[in-house]
Amino acid sequence: MKSINTYKEDFINYLNEKVKVKEPVNLYEPIHYILQIGGKRLRPVLTLMTCDLFGGNLRKAYDAALAVEVFHNFTLIHDDIMDSAPARRGKETVHTKWDVNTGILSGDAMMIVAYQCLESYDVSIFKELMVLLSKTALEVCEGQQLDVDFETRNDVEIPEYIHMITNKTSVLVGAAMKMGAIIAEVESSEAQKIYDFGLNLGVAFQLQDDYLDTFGNYEDFGKQIGGDIIENKKTFLYLRALEVCDDNDKQQLISLYNSKEKNLNKVNEVTAIFNKYNIAQLTSNEMEFYSNKAFKVLETSSISEDNKLYLRNFGLNLMKRKA
Ligand code: IPE
Ligand code: IPE
Ligand code: MG
Ligand code: MG
Ligand code: MG
Repeated sequence: MKSINTYKEDFINYLNEKVKVKEPVNLYEPIHYILQIGGKRLRPVLTLMTCDLFGGNLRKAYDAALAVEVFHNFTLIHDDIMDSAPARRGKETVHTKWDVNTGILSGDAMMIVAYQCLESYDVSIFKELMVLLSKTALEVCEGQQLDVDFETRNDVEIPEYIHMITNKTSVLVGAAMKMGAIIAEVESSEAQKIYDFGLNLGVAFQLQDDYLDTFGNYEDFGKQIGGDIIENKKTFLYLRALEVCDDNDKQQLISLYNSKEKNLNKVNEVTAIFNKYNIAQLTSNEMEFYSNKAFKVLETSSISEDNKLYLRNFGLNLMKRKA
């Protein structure tokens, strides 16, 4: 196995080779922009790593890794429109730098490019990758719709929230890993286990994203702090707070989340309630629950003990992220 940084650097070199600006520039420049302003490259690294882990031909995994990263970045452009987000990766979002129509069309084009990246595979692997990507893409849409539906609902419960984040975020993390397994041509039961590992890690990952949205720093996180509060997102933080706070604070929270007010005051008031009930710690506990669930799945896999340790360390490090 290589270091995470090596997979990441090798992937970025491949991306730089493949993604170029061409005419019409108003379509391709935003695509180039979003793919070049950084990001952790978590999903493509997972595809490469998983292929390597199963002894597959690593060179064959780059196109799938690119498909996954292009698809992910497409969802980010559209997500930032839907969430009215001003910043991503410490830079202006695409619809802020250009406009909403540009974001819609460049995003659409990226989804198609993502599928095109799979055209280099032989027919049986191509089919498996296509089926997986389409299933995943539709689930992401379902998750995104629920996320938006929840903004105006007052009766969302934590299991529904977990279902929502599983769809909007975790399925792509699982699929990124499963693609590596498919390219390495492992048995389907093994591919499924690595998918389940990714799925649970993905839930922990989104819980942490929610946590950082309130408790992170802009310099590290690169996104507007408090964005979820401003948008009345029914995150784990909010839902857990409703469960543990007294009646007074509960009514206060509900009323704050029923206003469309976009000011810092609201963010501060909500954050104060979260702090009063130690919501940061409760969120961390939940993250740990899901990362442990991922590690338990790993135990049932037939990969070597060294590789299990590698994945476990990867998961533990991911949970320490600030970006
Ligand atoms: C952001 O994904 C969207 C979520 C699912 C939380 P990442 O946190 O992986 O974003 P980048 O690609 O590293 O910027
Ligand atoms: C995004 O969830 C999930 C997808 C992009 C599909 P968020 O809305 O929390 O992601 P960020 O925080 O904007 O990256
Ligand atoms: Mg968002
Ligand atoms: Mg969103
Ligand atoms: Mg978020």
